[in-house]
Amino acid sequence: MYSENLTEELKKIIVSEEEIRGIISRIAEEITRDYSGKKLLICGILKGCFIFMADLVRHIDIPVEISFIKASSYGAGKESGEIKIMEFPELENYKEYEIIIVDDILDTGNTFCYLEKFLREKGFKSVNFCAFLDKPDRRSSPASAKYIGKQIENEFVVGYGLDFNEKYRNLPYVAVVK
Ligand code: IMP
Ligand code: MG
Repeated sequence: MYSENLTEELKKIIVSEEEIRGIISRIAEEITRDYSGKKLLICGILKGCFIFMADLVRHIDIPVEISFIKASSYGAGKESGEIKIMEFPELENYKEYEIIIVDDILDTGNTFCYLEKFLREKGFKSVNFCAFLDKPDRRSSPASAKYIGKQIENEFVVGYGLDFNEKYRNLPYVAVVK
């Protein structure tokens, strides 16, 4: 069973369920404090964000609007370097909104960099990023996230939304792939 043993493909757990709970409440508190009284749109990058974002928004104690985009720079475990945005939500007035983009992991930074330019052109009041994990050694674009769950080493990880060829997204913890 996933919950009791690591499969043969996985090396070790690096973020436990307990640590995840701590990360969620810390970031939710920061966002609640920073955006109180503002019109906030939280927009997740599918599919990797889905578990982290579901946990996070339920701990944010102010009204938020939710949306998702699909933006991808990875294909079958390899970087293509190409970023595609599908179906960005249409809003009546972008200028009224502060936006936080949520993703599972900040890696090269290419996705955030590309999105930042795209969202600034739409006219959002402010554009910030939130990543559950961060691999700072991998950065090749000048991207940063205002909210980061945990910095990790340069290893390929899965679980809590992160996949390896679409597997392991439903692990309740984060583990390193062998
Ligand atoms: P980047 O910051 O533009 O390189 O893109 C980050 C994206 O690459 C994330 O949203 C993930 O989909 C994917 N990614 C990067 N590192 C990992 C990993 O260790 N496991 C699973 N997906 C990863
Ligand atoms: Mg992703």
